[in-house]
Amino acid sequence: MTSRPEGRVRRRVTTQRTSSARPAAPRATTPDDRFFRHLVSSMRNGVLAIHRDGTIALVNDEAYRIFAVARTAHDVGRPVGDVFRDRPELLRVLPAAFELSTLPNRAELRLKDLDRVIGYTLSLVRDDDGRAIGAVLFFKDLTQVEQLEERERLRDRLASLGEMAAGIAHELKNPLAGIEVMAGLLRRQVPASPDAQSLLADIMSEAKLANEIVVDMLEFVRPIRLQVERIELHDIVHQAVAQAQVHVARGDIAVRLDLQAGLPPIEGDHTQLCQLLINLVTNAFEAMDGRGHVTISATAADVEPDPEFASADAPPATPSVVIEVVDDGPGIPDDLRDRIFNPFFTTKTTGSGLGLPIVRKIVDAHEGRIDLTSEPGQGTRFRITLPVSSGASWFK
Ligand SMILES: Nc1ncnc2c1ncn2[C@@H]1O[C@H](COP(=O)(O)OP(=O)(O)O)[C@@H](O)[C@H]1O
Ligand SMILES: [Mg+2]
Repeated sequence: MTSRPEGRVRRRVTTQRTSSARPAAPRATTPDDRFFRHLVSSMRNGVLAIHRDGTIALVNDEAYRIFAVARTAHDVGRPVGDVFRDRPELLRVLPAAFELSTLPNRAELRLKDLDRVIGYTLSLVRDDDGRAIGAVLFFKDLTQVEQLEERERLRDRLASLGEMAAGIAHELKNPLAGIEVMAGLLRRQVPASPDAQSLLADIMSEAKLANEIVVDMLEFVRPIRLQVERIELHDIVHQAVAQAQVHVARGDIAVRLDLQAGLPPIEGDHTQLCQLLINLVTNAFEAMDGRGHVTISATAADVEPDPEFASADAPPATPSVVIEVVDDGPGIPDDLRDRIFNPFFTTKTTGSGLGLPIVRKIVDAHEGRIDLTSEPGQGTRFRITLPVSSGASWFK
């Protein structure tokens, strides 16, 4: 092995080797060696190189992170199949480098158990005589890119659907208003007939309901234009509770506000954020059927970037405000949890199924996030995290 001609990659391997498995003539670390070592360890791509015999020549931190494998002190020099035994997908790809006539450039690997997608390039390491002495895999975690693309596609689909829905909603508003007005006029003409009175009252309330759905739908499909200002959350929470009571009879439901003192004002759209809370509080009231507890809390928090995507160039923690709307109502069954944010999904006879989609849209426009925890029988908790200073753009 020591007679193997020394290419650059080979030299790099020799200096890094720590185990006695592959003895080599001791050589001093040159500035070149150090530079290459720093280069590989600083790379934002994963790098994993093996020798012809399948032992690891080099592996950087990003590679360990992407493959979710813990680094141990003596990985270099060990068979790649031992160190990465939990990553069979990788073990299929890497040794194939020595057999394939054309090597994949920009192929993708799906790590099912980690729910990750990796884009990789596979190359042979050749010595000065052109012999393949190793193989190297360069790769990048594409999971986030994929998710963004998926969201982009969904947004496009919703945009064209939305245009159509907005058109229909607009057309429906006038006839519905007409029905309500004319039923009202007719009621005055038949004051003596209780049957006609009650039928006409039904027509009016149904028309009113249909109109509310249309208004919600327009609200949902309309692009949000945020009017960003500095907002005191205390004001919004109080307003939202008052408004929600207009929509739903609160009955014996106790409302508790738990708003941290000295909460920083946030940059956001007053009307939209109020709407968001109205929708959540209304849902909580409706879920509880006249008795129970609703707590609305707001606290300041520094939100760390998603650990899954954390990397050296990840942004620092974002100063945020966490708002929770918690009820002790019936909760949301497991099988419905994924569906409640879908437009028009409702379990109520008179629901529009647009309350939560609108909530999500407002949260997205403020570059926040929404999380739901709910146990059937235990109640429901919606948590909204909003950056104190959002990069919220005016046109979304
Ligand atoms: N706090 C809650 N408790 C129980 N179920 C809820 C709660 N909030 C929302 N849901 C469920 O989510 C569904 C969708 O809510 P939403 O989008 O506001 O539409 P709608 O209120 O018109 O039904 C509701 O029909 C209900 O089944
Ligand atoms: Mg609702």
